[in-house]
Amino acid sequence: MSIRNHIVVTGGAGFIGSHLCRALLAHGNRVTAIDNLSTGHRENLSDLQARPEFRLAVADVTSPVAFAGLAEVTHVVHLACPASPKANTAMPLETIRATSLGTLNALELAHRNHARAVIASSSEIYGDPQVHPQTEDYRGNTNPIGPYSAYTEGKRLSEAAAAAHHRTGTNVGVVRPFNVYGPNMWPDDGRVVSSFCAAALAGQTLQLHNGGTQTRSLVYVADFVTGLTAMLDSDEFGPVNLGSENEITVGDLARLVIELAGSGAVEVSPGRSDVVTVRRPDTTRARKLLGWEASTPLRDGIAHTLDWMRRVVG
Ligand SMILES: NC(=O)c1ccc[n+]([C@@H]2O[C@H](COP(=O)([O-])OP(=O)(O)OC[C@H]3O[C@@H](n4cnc5c(N)ncnc54)[C@H](O)[C@@H]3O)[C@@H](O)[C@H]2O)c1
Repeated sequence: MSIRNHIVVTGGAGFIGSHLCRALLAHGNRVTAIDNLSTGHRENLSDLQARPEFRLAVADVTSPVAFAGLAEVTHVVHLACPASPKANTAMPLETIRATSLGTLNALELAHRNHARAVIASSSEIYGDPQVHPQTEDYRGNTNPIGPYSAYTEGKRLSEAAAAAHHRTGTNVGVVRPFNVYGPNMWPDDGRVVSSFCAAALAGQTLQLHNGGTQTRSLVYVADFVTGLTAMLDSDEFGPVNLGSENEITVGDLARLVIELAGSGAVEVSPGRSDVVTVRRPDTTRARKLLGWEASTPLRDGIAHTLDWMRRVVG
């Protein structure tokens, strides 16, 4: 990317956004992060705040005001959304607004500036999949009124907004992240890796809902950001799955975290409704279109995550 790029990152103070801002600045870009700090943390950006090429605008992307006055924008990455199941079930209306109005506002900014946009959808658009692994052509098995529907259906609407913009001439791409993890996922955000790491470091029990037999495929955040920037550099619409093809049961993940943390124990707790039983991306398209695949071994990524949590959270 050239040094003259001005990249707007919505959700820039969040987990993925903070890593993305850092990577874009490292490549000589100017970055404006827009975040309402509803689930993000200023601390994620503390090392960037004094840099003249970086600005954090605290604003809500569901209002066009958040994007007013932004000029000479070359790229837009739309990440702003309450992302963890804990956050999006606690804030279902905010989730629907961020995925609908927020996506439209971000895409309109890109359209006005003739900029390239990439929006983050989610592997959740596949719901509890009946096709395994999930290719991008699979249309999913979601519940429009279930407990997670604000997020799953909101992300499907985000993709529809991107497709509509794509058809009418905006340069937009869609990525579908599959369980990204790493530093800057705070212990209380309710996601499986951060919850397990925090519980293990505190010597507590790691709860295995539904027996821990459900599977996830986890991608380390540095790998994910490489895929996301490759998508930003391309003119592809996608959608493109970005994740690891290495699948692990939640029970085995818990045991790995306990081993690396050196403390903690597992406990089987009652089942939850609408639990996704399997999740693994087919990443053929990412390899073909972007030359990308995940490479960080899970053991290394979990060790980095635990190191960060020990250091930063104490
Ligand atoms: N982390 C994952 O495993 C994963 C998986 C699938 C999809 N995604 C998607 O990637 C994106 C980033 O996820 P994340 O894991 O970094 O989540 P995150 O919650 O850490 O970051 C989201 C950021 O958006 C901000 N935000 C939320 N609503 C906003 C609004 N209305 N206006 C301005 N800012 C707002 C939050 O304050 C936060 O900083 C999300 O769109 C999420 O749905 C993430």
